[in-house]
Amino acid sequence: MKTVILTPDALSAAIDSLKKGEPVAFPTETVYGLAASAFDEGAIRKIFSIKGRPADNPLIVHISSLDQVSLLAEEVPPEFLKLARAFWPGPLTLVVKRKNSVPSICSAGLPTIAIRMPVHQVALDLIRGVGAPLAAPSANLSGGPSPTTAQDVLEDLEGKIPYILDGGACAIGLESTVLSLVNPRPILLRPGVVQKEALEAIFGRSIDLANQATPAFSPGMKYRHYAPKAAIRLVFNESDLKGPYSLPRITARNLYSELRKADRLGVPEVEIYCSSSVQADAALMNRLLRASGVLETTAASKRAC
Ligand code: TXA
Ligand code: MG
Repeated sequence: MKTVILTPDALSAAIDSLKKGEPVAFPTETVYGLAASAFDEGAIRKIFSIKGRPADNPLIVHISSLDQVSLLAEEVPPEFLKLARAFWPGPLTLVVKRKNSVPSICSAGLPTIAIRMPVHQVALDLIRGVGAPLAAPSANLSGGPSPTTAQDVLEDLEGKIPYILDGGACAIGLESTVLSLVNPRPILLRPGVVQKEALEAIFGRSIDLANQATPAFSPGMKYRHYAPKAAIRLVFNESDLKGPYSLPRITARNLYSELRKADRLGVPEVEIYCSSSVQADAALMNRLLRASGVLETTAASKRAC
């Protein structure tokens, strides 16, 4: 299959492809996603196979309007609407009970469903054009860095999908915050640009962090993630950067593209300087610890998650 990069004015080709059950990559403000209609079981199966994604890792479903929530969620707790009003459209994913009419493969068999309304105009136009919520994981090969440009998607998925919609470089560059509302107390499953404190301000109470010891809460947490082929060494004093390949100025926006660049160059190890501002960014530290393989083992990393 030839993979074609489309400009947003060729949106209708991407819409037709999704209506025919062929997954298409599209831009969001966080990272690029690989979409299928949330109600098309066969197309969702293709997503798992294209990415090499473990069958027990559920997908996020993307919506373009609040009415679509009732197609997906069995129950919507009052906090859900409060959070949706405060942060949607935007980089926050909410996990609630799934409606039985949504194919269970979308949630990897879980009784829950992750929902988010992206703010990227091309993403919203695509969802509206298809006329259905779109299930979409990040559009990378499973385990590697997420794609933040159409070119990154091509690097991973060339020949495997018909179209990549090009919406430019992603403004945020890290995946959305994932918050579960399934239990009596909310649980932060994945840190993102919408911070724990901002969520707590809306809730008026504290939010628990997911415990690494019970990855069943969010299956994605148990896999090594966001990792390039090169080994990652985190350095906490700039003077400890020894090279030959180091990244002294990492940001949320450039992390994944820098990791991809290092892999293209074939370097065996990348040193990354974690400045105090990097350390203060929970989402960025979470991805760095995961990419370096540290997260599973240290207490500090559990906090970062
Ligand atoms: O920013 C984002 O969230 C991007 C863009 C494309 O929207 N998507 C993304 O999807 O990062 P993905 O599949 O790479 O990560 C989804 C995460 C995984 O860790 C998965 O385990 C978790 O969300 N997740 C999805 N559905 C869940 C559910 N029902 N319960 C718990 N965790 C869930
Ligand atoms: Mg992903």
